[in-house]
Amino acid sequence: MRAKGPVYRGLSGMYALTSHSLISQALKHPQVKVQPLPGKRDPFTLGTNALEGSFVVLDAPDHTRLRRITAPAFRPKMMRELRGRIEATTHRLLDHVGTEFDLMADFANPLPITVISDLLGIPANETGRFARYGMIIAEAFDGLNSPAKVREYNTAYADIRQLFSRLMAERRVDPGDDVISILVAAETEDRMTADEFMTTCMLLLIAGFETTVNMIGNAAVLFSEHPEQWELLKAQPDLATNVVEEVLRYESPVPVLMRFTHDLVQLDGGEVPAGASVLFMLGAANRDPAVFPEPHRFDITRSGSVEHLAFGGGVHYCLGAPLSRLEGDVAFRAMAERFATIKLNGVPARRLSSSIRGFSAIPVRV
Ligand code: HEM
Repeated sequence: MRAKGPVYRGLSGMYALTSHSLISQALKHPQVKVQPLPGKRDPFTLGTNALEGSFVVLDAPDHTRLRRITAPAFRPKMMRELRGRIEATTHRLLDHVGTEFDLMADFANPLPITVISDLLGIPANETGRFARYGMIIAEAFDGLNSPAKVREYNTAYADIRQLFSRLMAERRVDPGDDVISILVAAETEDRMTADEFMTTCMLLLIAGFETTVNMIGNAAVLFSEHPEQWELLKAQPDLATNVVEEVLRYESPVPVLMRFTHDLVQLDGGEVPAGASVLFMLGAANRDPAVFPEPHRFDITRSGSVEHLAFGGGVHYCLGAPLSRLEGDVAFRAMAERFATIKLNGVPARRLSSSIRGFSAIPVRV
């Protein structure tokens, strides 16, 4: 695709951008939006409606308003306070894994799920049910290809909505310092509707269950394939911060974003007409040789001034980026300290989703 030029037009009339520079510009362009032009069809379909109506699929002014309400939960001060709790969860999980285990089931899934449950303020006696149903909703991105899967998804979706409703009622009378309390306060003050409360909770659940999970899994597979990089991390656990960036660059958990042009969009190096559907190939941009020398080399000591696009860009830049950077830093540091080695103990199972890049199971020996 890259070889065919900076702006690729597919046979279906859909456009795709692969260049880091063009995608960075386009993500910030005011006429590039997440909703299609009125009257135009949205040709992109995900396997689930769980993100429907949430602010990641809204444009200004609703996006701006809802993002502003949610943003305080991810401020640096909140992240500093979370670090100790994330470390405790990480070590508690690693205390139980033994030397042969499924890295996804025993570590990469439960760590971010516990962290987001904690951040949202899910009560301790509900976390098991929340995690089980949250996983079903998150995994629906791999497709709902049987009636049994659809039924399972619908039950999980209804149950989680019910839990969020109940928590909303409880926090109205007894607020805490969790994200749900922040959102409930906004709803009480009429800055957000009850429906928007629900879609925002669902967005945070999906984001919390679907992304960091894959970053940790992808890192484990990459280290098993590049033992010299693993040795480097073991010798210098401080490289964990860099590992986060290199793993996200090299294997981006969200490899593609979708957008619509509302006017002719002229970029420095190409243009897209008004009314077009455009795919932003983040995974390709993160291997763009124009910005990343030797882009296909996994190198945890890589340095450079250009940030990868794994967290997107512009007004929708990932709100949870500081949280996943923190989780990755803690997780990779702990893995380096505690695992003598990291080797595959079977064939990892790839996720089937086209919108998520990761694994559903990774048997390892450490
Ligand atoms: C948005 C990636 C972790 C919350 C995004 C977007 C990307 C992304 C690419 C932009 C979507 C778009 O423009 O259409 C990732 C990756 C993660 C990660 C790779 C982990 C490695 C998280 C976490 C949370 C989170 C842990 C919080 C629980 C969000 C939210 C948005 C978002 C709320 C919507 C922002 C907006 O529309 O203004 N993420 N994410 N993300 N992410 Fe993340």
